[in-house]
Parts: sequence; C-alpha cells; structure tokens
Amino acid sequence: MSTAKGKFKKITTHKLREMKAAGEKIAMLTAYDYSMAKILDGAGIDVLLVGDSASNVMAGNETTVPITLDHMIWHATSVVKGVDRALIVVDVPFGSYQGNSSEALRSSIRIMKESGAHAVKMEGGVEVKESITRVLTAGIPVMGHLGLTPQSIYKFGTYTVRAKDEQEAEKLLEDAKLLEEIGCFSIVLEKIPADLAKRVAEAVDIPIIGIGAGPHVDGQVLVVHDMLGITQDFKPRFLRQYADLNKTISDAVGAYIKDIKAEDFPNTEESY
Ligand code: KIV
Repeated sequence: MSTAKGKFKKITTHKLREMKAAGEKIAMLTAYDYSMAKILDGAGIDVLLVGDSASNVMAGNETTVPITLDHMIWHATSVVKGVDRALIVVDVPFGSYQGNSSEALRSSIRIMKESGAHAVKMEGGVEVKESITRVLTAGIPVMGHLGLTPQSIYKFGTYTVRAKDEQEAEKLLEDAKLLEEIGCFSIVLEKIPADLAKRVAEAVDIPIIGIGAGPHVDGQVLVVHDMLGITQDFKPRFLRQYADLNKTISDAVGAYIKDIKAEDFPNTEESY
C-alpha cells in the first residue's frame, strides 16, 4: 500500500493566516470517519472539521445536542488516521465547555491527547470567553463559531438566518473582535447576511470561514454529506450539491441485489 505521508506540506493555523493575508481562499469540509477523511485529504482539502453535525448525519439525531465527548473523540481518532495534510479541527460538544472553564480545558485536552487532532472549535462569543481563554492558555488552538450556533437551537427555536437586526449584528461583530483578541486562530460564521460577514472578515486579521455567510469571507465550509448529496431532506439555499451520491449508492445497491437474486453474482471468476 502506498502512503502520501511526508509528500505534502501540512496545513497549520499559521498557514491559514498567511492564506487570508495573501487572499487565498480556504476550503474546509466536515469529516467523521477514516475512509472519507482519506479521500478528502487526498483531494487537497485545507481543513477538516470533525463537526458535532456527526450527531445529525452519522447518528440520525435531530440536533447536535445529544453527541458526547466520547463520541467526538472516537470520530476524531478515525479522521486523524486518514489525514496527511489537512488541519483537523474538532467540535467540543454541547455540555463539555459552557459555563465551566475547567471542564472546557479537560474536554479539549482529552480531544487533543486521545485523538491527535490539531485544534478545537467552540460555539459562542462573550458568553464562553472564560472557557475559550482557559483552553488557549494550555496552548490548544481554538476556532470560534458565531451566528447560527446549532448547540443553542433550543434557545433560538429555529435554524433561520441570524443577526438580521442591527443589535444582533453589532453583538456578533463585537464577539468576533473579542475572539480574535483572546487568541482564536479562526472563526466560523454560520447563516448570517453576506454584508455582515464581509464586515467581520474586514474587521479581523484571523480567517473567517463561512457557511451560509456569502462570498466575502476567507473560506467556506460545508457538511460533506450535504455537498455530496448523501443527505436527502436538507436543501438550504446556501448549499451547493456537487454530487448525487444518494442516487449513485442506491443504484449500485439495487444492481447488487438484482445480481444476487438472478444468481449472477458471484460468477466463476469471482469464486475460489
Ligand atoms: O458541526 C458542524 O458541521 C459545523 C459546521 C456547520 C461548521 O459546526
């Protein structure tokens, strides 16, 4: 088996900052398992997010709330084994960092030590300042996440566009500046108006990665199951579907079933 280890220059948090300064856009996708991570890394993705969206797309939950720290570490460990080049960021799940900086530190250290990932991501602004600051003091790179923060879905009540009014927009802008000031290396902005995302990207030097935040940011992220067309019932306006893997897989499995029923598979060449 061939290996690409050492063949490519690895992506670091510093490299992402250089990319922003040079105007080179950052490509990020989610990944939850070894096989997919290997394909995405081989294709040249810059950042892989072991997102707590694993709760939805891997475990079939309605929200990201139920996924645990142990689940996240298991997914992250699998992803790390498949990656040679990309920067691997792991979501700290709901209930593992909010309102308790010691727990935030413990959770983040477990993620880094047990999975071998390179950074963690936490949702929220000033409300989680203490938790993020404590994690940063341990030398763990932190990516922020503002706008629609799915871990707070029961507070918002809906997955609609955030920060449409001036008050929420101003708070988001202040939160982004705060996250940069305390030392976050990047921020995800989810589902906010494109003009606001542009203001944020211009106001800070750290890379801003958008999902449903328009084109005027420093990079884009999508959930890999959504952009490959594996997910069927999720078609928000911001999603561009690059493949129809649901149909491809369904057709392949249909053909397999047909061949078995017709006693066509396996044939003599496929038998010992
Ligand atoms: O968990 C996730 O997939 C995310 C992205 C939507 C950014 O946080």
